Amino acid sequence: MIVRKFNPNDLKRVYEIENMSFNQSYGIKMFQQLYEAGVGFLVAEEEGYVIGYVIFWIKYEKQGHIISIAVDKNYRRLGAGTKLLAKSIGILSLLNLDKICLEVKQTNSEAVEFYKTFDFKINRVVPGYYEDGVGAILMYLELNR
Ligand SMILES: CC(C)(COP(=O)(O)OP(=O)(O)OC[C@H]1O[C@@H](n2cnc3c(N)ncnc32)[C@H](O)[C@@H]1OP(=O)(O)O)[C@@H](O)C(=O)NCCC(=O)NCCS
Repeated sequence: MIVRKFNPNDLKRVYEIENMSFNQSYGIKMFQQLYEAGVGFLVAEEEGYVIGYVIFWIKYEKQGHIISIAVDKNYRRLGAGTKLLAKSIGILSLLNLDKICLEVKQTNSEAVEFYKTFDFKINRVVPGYYEDGVGAILMYLELNR
């Protein structure tokens, strides 16, 4: 399994993975726009087949932000998510940031467990954050500078 930069040929697969992973979708056009805007965008590939992606950026001057991460259902628990997030944290760590933040759906305990393996901590809950009324758990990882 390798992690490499996203390129537009990956759009269809990234969109498929997003669709099987979330109820709400950014949509293919938004992925294209994020890519063109220059966000961090990586994919995990197994024998030439894209099995996961991560998108991240710098939200504020000192704060990185994980926009989205997902792995194809058929390839979960094999370490792809860990490779994608580790690479993102590695890149963001080079940029002199204080922390990396993200939001997780309150009902998504699997993702919370996943982030905890990287030592992300829970900051607070924002009720009704998502369109379906579910709250968001805000998590952060402090970066040692
Ligand atoms: C969260 C997600 C990206 C993890 O990807 P993954 O490739 O399956 O993760 P890994 O195999 O690297 O898992 C690393 C560790 O995280 C934890 N973890 C991962 N999935 C878990 C689950 N379903 N339940 C509990 N712990 C879990 C485990 O500690 C795991 O280690 P282990 O398999 O040795 O027990 C994947 O489950 C996913 O795509 N979910 C749907 C989309 C999503 O929720 N994204 C996050 C939105 S904020």
